[in-house]
Amino acid sequence: MSAKEQLNLDKLPQHVAIIMDGNGRWAQMHGQLRVYGHKSGVNSVRETAEAAAALGIKYLTLYAFSTENWNRPKDEVDALMELLVHTINSERETLNENNIRLATIGDTDSLPPRCQEGLAEAIAATSSNAGMTLILALSYSSRWEIVEATRRIAADVEAGKLKASEVNSDLFGTYLTTSKYPDPELLIRTSGEHRVSNFLLWQIAYAEFYFTETLWPDFGKEEFYQALLDFQQRERRFGKTSQQLIEQAIDNFFNNPSGSK
Ligand code: FPP
Repeated sequence: MSAKEQLNLDKLPQHVAIIMDGNGRWAQMHGQLRVYGHKSGVNSVRETAEAAAALGIKYLTLYAFSTENWNRPKDEVDALMELLVHTINSERETLNENNIRLATIGDTDSLPPRCQEGLAEAIAATSSNAGMTLILALSYSSRWEIVEATRRIAADVEAGKLKASEVNSDLFGTYLTTSKYPDPELLIRTSGEHRVSNFLLWQIAYAEFYFTETLWPDFGKEEFYQALLDFQQRERRFGKTSQQLIEQAIDNFFNNPSGSK
């Protein structure tokens, strides 16, 4: 049976986040310039987004450009920005066909104006799609986001809109750029690196991690299904014991045997 056939569609994560890594190494392996790897990575973005939307996953967040990526050689940064503009325009139809709404997180004001315009147009053109939300993390880093949130909370306290005693975990989450979305339950990283690289540090507190040696341009639907299957085989305890989870499941069964919500 294929990984897709083995999936329990009632136990899919609502939100999957992906660190797309290995484009440069993939290009090098093929005797090409790094930008060729990024271009090939767009096919994996399309395949994964289509697969996620078709399964009914509600949110897919992709780490497309980190704050640290600005430090890459200018040629590569320019090529990535150009690729972003081109992809957003050329894939708009695919987004609509798959009922996908586009969104961004990160310091998008720092992107070149052409990128900002392209993003604003694509976000508006897909805003009524009610299937999956595809969230591109652009000029994003988690420490930047957490510092920004803290600064805005401090400003609200200073302005008397908020009491310091009211600041708690839930309130903090509302000041993050991800405030509209649930936390990812699954984080995938390609290319054999086992790092989080300043990505969604607050939001992945209870996420399951799936690491694969596959370089991003070789990642496709099949491996995405494999990652989901792997996720479904984990026991998510949220700090509780296995015994407590069993008791909770028995309790749920007897109080709500049909499983309806
Ligand atoms: C990391 O690989 C990848 C990136 C920094 C960019 C990801 C961009 C894309 C997949 C294409 C554009 C995406 C969208 C959503 C339009 P790397 O360059 O760090 O690879 P390396 O570790 O092998 O050098």
